[in-house]
Amino acid sequence: MRVFVTGATGFIGCALVPELINAGYQVLGLTRSEAGAKSLAAAGAEVHRGSLEDLESLKGGAAKSDAVIHLAFNHDFSNLKQNSEDDRKVIETLGEVPAGSDRPLIITSGTGLVRSKTGAPAVETDDHVSSAEFPRAASEEAAEALIAKGGGRVMVMRLPQVHDTSKQGRITLHIQTARQQGRVAYVGEGKNRLPAVHLSDAVRLYRLALEKGQAGARYHAVAEEGVALRDIAEVIGARLKMPVESITAEEAPKYFGWMAHLAMIDLAASSALTRERLGWRPVGPGLIADLERAHNLEI
Ligand SMILES: NC(=O)c1ccc[n+]([C@@H]2O[C@H](COP(=O)([O-])OP(=O)(O)OC[C@H]3O[C@@H](n4cnc5c(N)ncnc54)[C@H](OP(=O)(O)O)[C@@H]3O)[C@@H](O)[C@H]2O)c1
Repeated sequence: MRVFVTGATGFIGCALVPELINAGYQVLGLTRSEAGAKSLAAAGAEVHRGSLEDLESLKGGAAKSDAVIHLAFNHDFSNLKQNSEDDRKVIETLGEVPAGSDRPLIITSGTGLVRSKTGAPAVETDDHVSSAEFPRAASEEAAEALIAKGGGRVMVMRLPQVHDTSKQGRITLHIQTARQQGRVAYVGEGKNRLPAVHLSDAVRLYRLALEKGQAGARYHAVAEEGVALRDIAEVIGARLKMPVESITAEEAPKYFGWMAHLAMIDLAASSALTRERLGWRPVGPGLIADLERAHNLEI
């Protein structure tokens, strides 16, 4: 079975490609660069040259494959609205399947877009915010449009902070902010939480979804339901030997910039349904353990 992987050269893609190959899949990896082509070939994947802007190249990759995992995203946050709308078009294109096909298509989203109805950690059946509220939700809206249309086995993978000792999702940006500001801040008591998963567990879940996932399902790749922002700040401060302090909501935009709103809300998320339906058991190190030995916190 050949799997077309977009974003195959990124942080998650680089771990997903060997996960799939070791499980016996052929991988066709999208890349827009010579360096990407070399690294994919070295990993044992087939190379598909193209880009998110070249929708024909995406159609070509999908047409040659039995399944699609869509990870690629342009993370230039200064252009988030446009990049998110572009991703909507990419998903529409990847979702064009031959009539009657059951081809799996896994779309990537984030648990940070989901709002709990109850105050308990957000669950797989909770809705996401609209793209009018947060542009990145365009990807999940595009997946829903495909699901409503039928055809193919479309699934949504919602990721929390995916971490190892080199990168930790949004926390990587918190670390950069701390280095720029010379101090580490959290808002109020810092009890608001971020969910997390180790990279190795996240990519195993993509494989399980490919193998056992149901059409229309939304999965949460959550190993830890919520790690408090204050605990995260304390580790960053200890590693960077910087003061750690509480700031007010009014002070947050000056310190966090565009992340201020996100730094103030509780984004805890559950994966109980995902674990039950896919038999997934995360075993990797926790977020704090990875931060305690993270290379990007070396001074
Ligand atoms: N990491 C997390 O904690 C996290 C959390 C929530 C959601 N996500 C989502 O998970 C997915 C993968 O994240 P990641 O951390 O692996 O991202 P990443 O390291 O930034 O990798 C992004 C990938 O997208 C590719 N890409 C970007 N622009 C492209 C374009 N115009 N044409 C073709 N390919 C392009 C990159 O290719 P090049 O190598 O050529 O640049 C790279 O392979 C993304 O959708 C991301 O938003 C990640």
